[in-house]
Amino acid sequence: MVKAVQGAGVVVTGAGGGIGAALARRFAAAGARVVVNDLDAERAEAVAGETGGIAVPGDASAVVAAALDALDGTVDVYCANAGVGSGGSEAAGEDVWAQAWDVNVMAHVRAAHALLPGWLERGAGRFVSTVSAAGLLTMIGAAPYSVTKHGAYAFAEWLSLTYRHRGVKVHAICPQGVRTDMLAATGSAGDLVLRPTAIEPEDVADALFRGIEEDRFLILPHPEVAGYYQARAGEPDRWLNGMNHLQRQWEETR
Ligand SMILES: NC(=O)c1ccc[n+]([C@@H]2O[C@H](COP(=O)([O-])OP(=O)(O)OC[C@H]3O[C@@H](n4cnc5c(N)ncnc54)[C@H](O)[C@@H]3O)[C@@H](O)[C@H]2O)c1
Repeated sequence: MVKAVQGAGVVVTGAGGGIGAALARRFAAAGARVVVNDLDAERAEAVAGETGGIAVPGDASAVVAAALDALDGTVDVYCANAGVGSGGSEAAGEDVWAQAWDVNVMAHVRAAHALLPGWLERGAGRFVSTVSAAGLLTMIGAAPYSVTKHGAYAFAEWLSLTYRHRGVKVHAICPQGVRTDMLAATGSAGDLVLRPTAIEPEDVADALFRGIEEDRFLILPHPEVAGYYQARAGEPDRWLNGMNHLQRQWEETR
């Protein structure tokens, strides 16, 4: 049981299903009071009902004020989990790029903007960002997703280095494939890269809780991602050749 979480006021965005629902369940089981946000009101209500949480449906970008009301004025932990899996290339529509930027990055920035004054005043607060291994590496066939997840990772990193001496804890969760609706929608690229090593949403929640206990920023539910990340940094062209090999394999399947 993680002491930091008992009795805490926790918000999880995109918690109507998938990883967010698993995070909400895990926080509730650890004794937290959980605000369950999702665009889909019915799914938010269902998970809130099951976990004894409070449903706050709506866009993740605008959840903080209602969550503060629901939690008597204090959000201790904010999980910026809602995300869109926007695939496509440089030719993806402006609307696809804009939505990816809005949900995968700006929703995090807006939440931090709303929460930081209270956290800095109290000298405590925890921001959990569900990024993706695509935020450290990249995902074939998904330029808007890869670019905006790099943005989400950069923002989490920036928050952590800026406020860690002032009591603010930040965790960046960077899984590869996780068996959710989003993975199901990744098609043949997901079949090639993600599905063979996919894990359950509950495994992601367990990894986060281990990271909270160990006070770690980077949460890797697939530990092998650490090696890929090192390879990318150490030998960029070799890594790019490897990724291009995957790209060509993918092209052959289409
Ligand atoms: N599934 C994977 O393989 C995988 C891997 C790495 C990272 N992730 C990340 O995990 C997070 C959760 O994804 P998931 O796989 O559980 O997906 P999912 O599709 O199962 O769940 C996402 C939930 O977010 C909700 N949502 C979407 N946009 C929203 C918005 N603007 N405001 C509020 N809710 C919104 C959806 O209604 C849905 O219930 C995402 O940020 C995703 O990028 C997923």
